Amino acid sequence: MVSVAFGSLNLVDTCLTDSPQEAAAYLRAGALVAFPTETVYGLGADAFDAEAVAAIFNAKGRPADNPLIVHIAHHDQLMLLAEGLPPNARTLIDHFFPGPITVIVKKKHGVPAVVTAGLNTVGVRMPGHPVAQAFLAACGCPVAAPSANLSGHPSPTTWRAVYDDLGGRIDCLLKGGRSVAGLESTVVDCTEAAPVLLRAGVITVEQLRAVLPALRIRAADTHDAVRSPGMRHRHYAPQGRVCLITAPREAEARSDTAYIGLSPPATAQRFGLAMHCATVEAYAHELFDFFRRCDAANLSVIYCQRTPTAGLGLALMDRLHRAAEG
Ligand code: TXA
Ligand code: MG
Repeated sequence: MVSVAFGSLNLVDTCLTDSPQEAAAYLRAGALVAFPTETVYGLGADAFDAEAVAAIFNAKGRPADNPLIVHIAHHDQLMLLAEGLPPNARTLIDHFFPGPITVIVKKKHGVPAVVTAGLNTVGVRMPGHPVAQAFLAACGCPVAAPSANLSGHPSPTTWRAVYDDLGGRIDCLLKGGRSVAGLESTVVDCTEAAPVLLRAGVITVEQLRAVLPALRIRAADTHDAVRSPGMRHRHYAPQGRVCLITAPREAEARSDTAYIGLSPPATAQRFGLAMHCATVEAYAHELFDFFRRCDAANLSVIYCQRTPTAGLGLALMDRLHRAAEG
């Protein structure tokens, strides 16, 4: 591995590979490895190697007070991370693991503080993506991983997007196809009697309430805000200004503007980029990649059509609001 000193970061040759085993060998040697999941790509390190985990924050430029999700391959790894499993956590695990959900539980003492940003809880997720599963199984340890983007950028849904953000800053990139969902996992806090949705995601509130009717949605009050530190930070934002609209006719069609939404715009060819998605699922799948294409084309305004907040629409609108605030 060639390394070149560059500020506080060593620039490295990033190994691109299709082999989960080769990528896992890097991780086991203490290196950072980006890998595909069904939601977005993650940037992983051995969760019990505090130095490697600290390097994730450095590579991404991530604030140290934003905890990481720990990814597992097998149910028996839960016991390395969680100090017992309350019934709500057990229910979510039984219904949705492996899949696009993160369950917050009390952490075991041995989980390094750098992983959880000093919290006494840990987020655990078992991805359903076959390449992620092969990689995590070959690692043989729980893998701490945030989304594999520079902090503040949209989450990456292709290996190209990971490479654009983190090439030269990470040791290995395990290539997979495009992420099927395109939005991040649902985060549910199970540390108190009533489960709380901290981040809307691919598993919908309707799906969660079917098994946990008492689920509350995180309120913007201080107590819940403290429980979800990540939500305080700016997120998901492209360089161009994101403008939320209800109907395509509100968008100003110009060569330096873009439009994405469920309704087709009458003047699609007059935008720098325009995309009409047939379903909310397709919209979610496209959104972050669309933002990156808008940035590559230097577009100054990105008009995004609002959607109803049923089903996946809740997570999609959450990301659109955050991008618009950015
Ligand atoms: O789909 C996903 O969740 C992707 C893939 C790679 O698994 N990961 C991801 O990680 O989106 P990240 O770091 O970008 O977002 C993790 C979110 C943040 O909002 C963070 O604050 C929250 O989960 N989180 C992690 N651990 C937590 C904890 N112990 N308590 C509360 N929130 C936590
Ligand atoms: Mg992220």
